[in-house]
Amino acid sequence: MSQFTHTKYKPFPVINKPDRRWPSQQITKAPLWCAVDLRDGNQALIEPMNVAQKQKMWALLVKLGFKQIEIGFPSASQPDFDFCRWLIEENQIPDDVTIQALTQARGELIERTYEALEGAKQAIVHVYNSTSPVQRKKVFQLDKAGIVDIARNGAQLVLDHSKKYPDTQWSFEYSPESFSSTEIDFSIEVCNAVIDVWQPTPDHKAIFNLPATVECATPNVFADQVETFCDNINSRDSIIVSLHTHNDRGCGVAAAELAVMAGADRVEGTLMGNGERTGNMDIVTMAMNLYSQGIDPELDLSNADEIVRVVSECTQIAAHPRHPWLGELVYTAFSGSHQDAIRKCLAQQKGDEPWDVAYLPIDPKDLGRDYQSVIRVNSQSGKGGVAYILENDYGLQLPRWLQIEASRKVQAHAEQESIEVSPEKIWDIIQKSFMSGKDGQQLSAYHLDRNSDHEAIRATLTTKGNKESEVTINGQGDGALSAFCHALESAFGISLEIVNYDQHAIGSGTDASAVGYVQVKINGNRYCGISKDRDIISANLNAILACLNQAIPSQEQDIAV
Ligand code: KIV
Ligand code: ZN
Repeated sequence: MSQFTHTKYKPFPVINKPDRRWPSQQITKAPLWCAVDLRDGNQALIEPMNVAQKQKMWALLVKLGFKQIEIGFPSASQPDFDFCRWLIEENQIPDDVTIQALTQARGELIERTYEALEGAKQAIVHVYNSTSPVQRKKVFQLDKAGIVDIARNGAQLVLDHSKKYPDTQWSFEYSPESFSSTEIDFSIEVCNAVIDVWQPTPDHKAIFNLPATVECATPNVFADQVETFCDNINSRDSIIVSLHTHNDRGCGVAAAELAVMAGADRVEGTLMGNGERTGNMDIVTMAMNLYSQGIDPELDLSNADEIVRVVSECTQIAAHPRHPWLGELVYTAFSGSHQDAIRKCLAQQKGDEPWDVAYLPIDPKDLGRDYQSVIRVNSQSGKGGVAYILENDYGLQLPRWLQIEASRKVQAHAEQESIEVSPEKIWDIIQKSFMSGKDGQQLSAYHLDRNSDHEAIRATLTTKGNKESEVTINGQGDGALSAFCHALESAFGISLEIVNYDQHAIGSGTDASAVGYVQVKINGNRYCGISKDRDIISANLNAILACLNQAIPSQEQDIAV
């Protein structure tokens, strides 16, 4: 009998809320951010951060622009206490940054928290106790009044101890832990009890932090809870409503976004979402979501690689290559139709116009990523990807007829090897398939005589393969290319007809070179050739020779002179 029995679980109750307003709100500015990497994030690590890692994480958070940073749980952890002292005693806290320390609502722990924070210019003391039915009944075996007492007494102790350190500007934060699993009326009752103790004012607000300690409902339910809280809490103008979502259902960011729409002012989270179980809400994701909507996230996330490197070094957790906004693969397209669309949009995107590129919600350059990695080629890729890489990395603007041929060759390789094809390998395939190697015929010199209605060519060809030789061939035609084809036809006893050709310059000034692309029919079969040369005519003639070298391998090249 299967153990996978859904009847074991019950649905989360929804709030009946006829006056629901948040669905029609829009976020127009960044919330106040508070990074909890050094506390909640750190508590969730297999190996908590050592001193060097904490210092590195701290430096990054400050550099990114966080103004509130929870630095630990100093009353519960000596390393957190020591780190807090290091920050204060070594003057590591910029004037505009406020550190925050977490404590349970217990006298001795609150006292120790103040000892850790002594000497800080400003600090937030964050006190919490759990409020949900399961915690009340099974963990604390307390009724609602007992839980309110813990909160009220804790708040009182926080206030009392603060008076012993008048040189610090104190702010207070209270979290009804497991808020999202608590009856909303009771959450409000507990928080009102704390407000009665702290007596916050609009000039000296207290923070009320509403955790989805375990995410157990869809984000709309959390938004309803937060809107209800904002509407019914006492002294709303004297409190900062903060959010602290976890990601158990994978919606930590969505829940925070909807709850900001529902009226919250502040958001706690971690970089890239490290935290208990499936993690805390990911501040980078939420901030980048804002950024991609034209809202200043008030964090500088422009060095994505540094964020990924420091977070993985400190947490010892590798970044997922598809992590929102920051993953190694998130600006990369493998599928042919995506590559084609991206290439076309990038070519039309003008610097001063709003970003509008299919499949790329933001400009990867904003995060310090370049377009090099935007298009990568595997067996799913089409002509667009190969064309993009050849243009971006090698300056070749393949005409459409050649894009199809080139992508066939690359795709055959990708299918055969079942691997991604690197730009270097693509270039190798293109060279081997369409460009003359050292063995075939090379053009070493040519001379054109131009009359009014036709041209005569005298060209010297060399082979450097097994049998090195040099021959001179002559031909006539109504242009340089047809004269050259005629010369080759006579010299090699073949029929040779140009089907397509194209050319362009690469670079400018004295460094400029030219690329010629041709498609020819030799003895009824089609071949494509590419050549990069110092001038356009040489490029085209060598491209024709590249076709000849494919049609007639060098050892069979019998020249009739
Ligand atoms: O997830 C949680 O509820 C917490 C609180 C201590 C804020 O981390
Ligand atoms: Zn948490």
